[in-house]
Amino acid sequence: MPNSWSPDSWRDHPIRQAPSYPDADALAAVEARLRRYPPLVFAGEARRLKEGLARVAEGQAIVLQGGDCAESFRDFTANIIRDTFRVLLQMAVVLTFGASLPVVKIGRLAGQLAKPRSSDTETRDGLTLPSYRGDIINGPEFTAAARIPDPGRMEQGYFQAAGTLNLLRAFATGGYADLHQVHRWNLGFVARSPLAERYQDIAQRIDETLSFMNACGISASTSQEIRETDFFTSHEALLLPYEQALTRVDSTTGDWYACSAHFLWIGERTRQPDGAHVEFLRGVRNPIGIKLGPTTSADDLLRLIETLNPENEAGRLSLISRMGADNVLDLLPPLLRAVKRAGFRVAWMCDPMHGNTISAGGGLKTRSFDAILKEVRGFIAAHAAEGTWPGGLHVEMTGHEVTECIGGAHGLTVMNLNERYETFCDPRLNAEQSLELAFLVAEELKARRTQPLRPTGA
Ligand code: PEP
Ligand code: CO
Repeated sequence: MPNSWSPDSWRDHPIRQAPSYPDADALAAVEARLRRYPPLVFAGEARRLKEGLARVAEGQAIVLQGGDCAESFRDFTANIIRDTFRVLLQMAVVLTFGASLPVVKIGRLAGQLAKPRSSDTETRDGLTLPSYRGDIINGPEFTAAARIPDPGRMEQGYFQAAGTLNLLRAFATGGYADLHQVHRWNLGFVARSPLAERYQDIAQRIDETLSFMNACGISASTSQEIRETDFFTSHEALLLPYEQALTRVDSTTGDWYACSAHFLWIGERTRQPDGAHVEFLRGVRNPIGIKLGPTTSADDLLRLIETLNPENEAGRLSLISRMGADNVLDLLPPLLRAVKRAGFRVAWMCDPMHGNTISAGGGLKTRSFDAILKEVRGFIAAHAAEGTWPGGLHVEMTGHEVTECIGGAHGLTVMNLNERYETFCDPRLNAEQSLELAFLVAEELKARRTQPLRPTGA
């Protein structure tokens, strides 16, 4: 691989999952406008996130990354953004308590608009059209017109990301994220849950801790940490013309940063070591992630790490494993061992969603809560056995009461899926299922605090 890098050097590499825009002039005009627009994030913020992820890599913090599989132009409303943000904060409080460690919070929000697809085309009733690739590329409607990649959508995506980020920043610092408030919401969840008794204990202890802190004079009015939170944004860096146009030199360091989000990741389908997506991300200094599915070989992984993090900087690279509940205990340990043996400093995350998608019939995809939990438990057990740190979670979830994943305390079944199946892409955990997962993982982390590194089965 040549060492010289520029924001457009990816164009000389083989690329997968790229839309072909029929109108090159229109594409160039949008790219030129995006290059002039203000960056969405500031390099200093990306560096602060990298410091947080360095603590995850060192076993001093955990990370929670979550949000829609795909955001959409249709669902660009304050309530939808607020509810996802709220559930992420609720999950983070529960996990903080379980692990007794800070939680780095990252949304799949404000730009998660491009999707890799397993097939370039979709056929319905004998008609074959290009696949839907996310609202920033084409439309979900099954018509020839909607499925033509339209560069104007990149501009709409930029403005939507700016609006979303603006609201998130307001929520994070404007009082909405007050720890007491978040805890009150959790008490509401516990009261509603059929498993209320199971969660009561953690909830009550958080209550006591907050009262104790209050009595010591640590409250929202005295402490910024109680009142505000750090919240970062992320998406898959799939649509490279868009990412390139928002890549800027940081004036304080002279380094390149992708300024479309704080954290970007490379998907399972685009992580070829010589491919365009790896080439693009190797040159920006943001914290980045790579998704690792069941076909990942230790050799490929080591090569990717050397390419993407040659200075072995902790916090730069997060490895997001998505092996599937039945594979994780076989496939993850060899990767953990190889990375550990090579001395690479990485944060590990578990994506328990993408290896556990099943067909529910009638064209619907679903995931079972039990499989999701099983993969997380397998992930934690594998790390315990290898003496590595199970850094955190990467989940597809929403703050709304959708019916897309089955299982959980409310016992959703395939019969319920049609009630509120709203995703344009993969099935998400709803608010209750997300919180339940956080409580169960917190229990697991708490149990392991007293028995560290105990190898167990899933
Ligand atoms: C995703 O995170 O939505 C995704 C497509 O994941 P993966 O690349 O792991 O399949
Ligand atoms: Co997905």
